Amino acid sequence: MHIGFLNPQGNFDAHDSYITEHADFGGQLVYVKEVAIAIARKGHQVDILTRQIIDPDWPEFAQTFDTYPDVENVRIIRLPAGPKEFLRKELLWPHLVTDWVPNILKFYQGEGRLPDAMTTHYGDGGLCGVLIEDKTGVPFTFTAHSLGAQKMDKLHVTPENLAQINEYYYFSRRLLAERLSMNRSAVNITSTFKQERFGQYNHPAYQGAIDVNNDVRFALIPPGVEPSVFGAKARSHNEEATYQLIQERLARDISESRRELPVILASSRLSPKKNTLGLVQAYAQSETIQEQANLVLITAGLHNPLHEPVKDEQVERTVLTPIREIVNEKNLWGKISAFCVPDQGALAATYRFMAQRRSVFALMSLFEPFGLAPLEAAVAGLPVVATKNGGLSESLRKGDNEYGVLVDPEDTADIVRGLERLLCNAQEWEHFAQCGQQHVLNCYTWETAGNEYLNLIKEIVSSPTARRPAELLPIHSYFLNPQSETDVSLEELSHLYFAAIQN
Ligand code: F6P
Repeated sequence: MHIGFLNPQGNFDAHDSYITEHADFGGQLVYVKEVAIAIARKGHQVDILTRQIIDPDWPEFAQTFDTYPDVENVRIIRLPAGPKEFLRKELLWPHLVTDWVPNILKFYQGEGRLPDAMTTHYGDGGLCGVLIEDKTGVPFTFTAHSLGAQKMDKLHVTPENLAQINEYYYFSRRLLAERLSMNRSAVNITSTFKQERFGQYNHPAYQGAIDVNNDVRFALIPPGVEPSVFGAKARSHNEEATYQLIQERLARDISESRRELPVILASSRLSPKKNTLGLVQAYAQSETIQEQANLVLITAGLHNPLHEPVKDEQVERTVLTPIREIVNEKNLWGKISAFCVPDQGALAATYRFMAQRRSVFALMSLFEPFGLAPLEAAVAGLPVVATKNGGLSESLRKGDNEYGVLVDPEDTADIVRGLERLLCNAQEWEHFAQCGQQHVLNCYTWETAGNEYLNLIKEIVSSPTARRPAELLPIHSYFLNPQSETDVSLEELSHLYFAAIQN
């Protein structure tokens, strides 16, 4: 089969450039790349469709075609959408309608055939799947990755701040696009059973677009880990160089007497929702933990963020400044280090390095839709202490079986408890390192995810509308002809988000 992946935001290239260095370059891009490669490895032709970016700050994304090294059957195809330069995802909506979708259709017309099906990612990819399906009948799966209504909840949107917040995030367009995507998709794919379907899709803002109790509208396909990259016995191209880099950074930041201690390792984008501050507060609160381990923050693209201001003002103000204040106040200098590693292979090598000195991986997000990084760390041999809010409550716990230590990220004492459980008890460390690694290898690999996608795609190609509701939502005028007068109004957004909640 010939399968297209619609993912206009972020971008894709042979070296996964900028992954985790920008809000639009996170786990979703890894997900799309790995599922595409897993499907291609089964002998199918896969196109990852994204946006052409001609911008000196983002030089990797100017060519129309690209590929991954040593991977057959996957084309990265970048087609123009709006201005040539990079645009953050929130600004893409009108250009997807006026340029990107028409350019995709023109591209395949030139090739003489369309893909058999599309997989679509995030509300922007989903919207384009809707428009292409409406014009051509090509069915599409919808994988939300993250839904806007949930983000509005986390941003504490109120009638008073709605207009101001919407000016930056365009939730008006995003929620309408998400409603259309989940309504008109052949099937909606979730990474977790309970959390996403009954915790995000059931948000009142999506009433009328999806029936979360209708099993045929959903398929559960958890993301996976690539053992050849993250496995304990894998070796990256820069394994030794990464070990050297880590030792240099520890020598720079950690007091000599402590340099061989285990580490509490955190590795995520420095956004407030990742709650790195909560982890630092827990570390600062526990003398016991400080005696047992140092705290290391892997910070994408930032070589020394605790000592050098970063250009992203929001990260500086909302994340790094509060962390520095705690480190100063509790005099944690010499116990904490923050630095970046060059790429995914180096990150995997970092996990292996830290596992050898009985470290733990920590992720304290206030809410984590799925949580791939902890699973990658687990496969490398690091036991995990992580937020119980979101997908990790399903992937790291099955009934009474624990495969990681889950904690309340907003309860400092609970975070301390979780860290002490692994750092102060060798048997517990050994148990969670072993059972966490085995559990992820058994249940969460990209090969498994690719097989599940393929089975689903074969089904929807043979009967595209079998799982769809009889009544489809109409396509909003803005997505047929994006003009200021056709735009999704604040009143529409307000009704969707607030009126539904009040009912
Ligand atoms: O790739 C980055 C990502 O994983 C995408 O899903 C999305 O760009 C972002 O994280 C989450 O988006 P938001 O915070 O707008 O829900």
